[in-house]
Amino acid sequence: MTTFGTPLSPHATKVMLLGSGELGKEVLIALQRLGVETIAVDRYENAPGQQVAHHRRTITMSDPAQLKALIEAERPHLVVPEIEAIATPMLEELEAAGTVRVIPTARAARLTMDREGIRVLAAETLALPTSPYQFCNSLEELQAAIDGGIGYPCIVKPVMSSSGKGQSKIDGPGDVKTAWDYAMAGGRVSHGRVIVEGFIDFDYEITQLTVRAVGADGQIETHFCDPIGHVQVSGDYVESWQPHPMHPAALEKSRQIAKAVTDNLGGQGLFGVELFVKGQDVWFSEVSPRPHDTGLVTLCTQNQSEFELHARAILGLPVDTSLRNPGASAVIYGGVDAVGIVFDGVEEALRVPDTDLRLFGKPESFTKRRMGVALARAADVHTARDNAKLAASKVKPRKA
Ligand SMILES: Nc1ncnc2c1ncn2[C@@H]1O[C@H](COP(=O)(O)OP(=O)(O)O)[C@@H](O)[C@H]1O
Ligand SMILES: [Mg+2]
Repeated sequence: MTTFGTPLSPHATKVMLLGSGELGKEVLIALQRLGVETIAVDRYENAPGQQVAHHRRTITMSDPAQLKALIEAERPHLVVPEIEAIATPMLEELEAAGTVRVIPTARAARLTMDREGIRVLAAETLALPTSPYQFCNSLEELQAAIDGGIGYPCIVKPVMSSSGKGQSKIDGPGDVKTAWDYAMAGGRVSHGRVIVEGFIDFDYEITQLTVRAVGADGQIETHFCDPIGHVQVSGDYVESWQPHPMHPAALEKSRQIAKAVTDNLGGQGLFGVELFVKGQDVWFSEVSPRPHDTGLVTLCTQNQSEFELHARAILGLPVDTSLRNPGASAVIYGGVDAVGIVFDGVEEALRVPDTDLRLFGKPESFTKRRMGVALARAADVHTARDNAKLAASKVKPRKA
């Protein structure tokens, strides 16, 4: 895209976000700053990104007919998936017909919409190191997979799920049925398929943010951000920091893996490649072809946040992935199930030195729903983590 238009005019440059949560909201803000006309789509009204976009649309994005009708009516230049639960075969159809360009590609959106497509690509097509795994359609198949080689401990996840939903660790034969039932209750669509993975006893895990952007010569170039360390509780991120110190050999392997996966997925944009590291060994875990939740930390650490990088890369603009200063993020959970909650302690939180806050504006809170994030920058990651957690702890969501 070389010429940029004026929003709300016939020559506007139009971008549609499919999914408008807290990550989409930041992408939308970055696009707004470049004068792009934005359309924020979500499955519910007043999603965070809808609150900052030019237009808001509420549809069931997993319904191919609804998705097609909306894209044909709006005719955006780019469609940017922000979530996985989208009718991706329809996106492939529309892309093939030349109706729209999907970020990074419709194929990448399809391959990463469930755990199976991307795992088979990474482990079998690209021969990258991953945990041992098997896909199972029943409790019997799950037990057979464990007995047949996966062993204990292992992790069971619905093929269609994210943020740790339906995911659990199995330590011995007594846990197998519980894990199966939990996966069946927690999957996005109950088609009863799970992945069972051998447990990797890693030293730490990182997100390797990787950007495919157009260089000065018109060719796609791959850029890497500094590694992001994070802590997950029950499969959901609670804390992240950047940079995470790494042995040079492990960093090199991480980037080779990230390059192999993102080269194959193709297109333009930012990817979050999740990797497990033990000593100098690195395993590929999964990849988001879009900004990653642990990358919220880049709002206070990089010269261009992961959201700005995504916006620039998809528009064909140059990117700068350099780190400005170390920093950390700490998640603020709702703590209550209620609509229209209020937050006490915001002032106290921001009195913690060198901190910032994002309150996402989600209309409804759940105990374990991510409602905001505290950000802290510091001379070192240790201080940043302490301050981010301190700031997050000062924010008290409650019923109005
Ligand atoms: N095979 C594994 N071995 C050890 N830990 C794992 C394994 N798979 C997942 N985990 C842990 O669970 C977290 C969430 O798993 P992930 O596959 O990334 O699911 P999600 O798509 O919900 O993010 C990981 O970040 C990691 O901490
Ligand atoms: Mg993950």
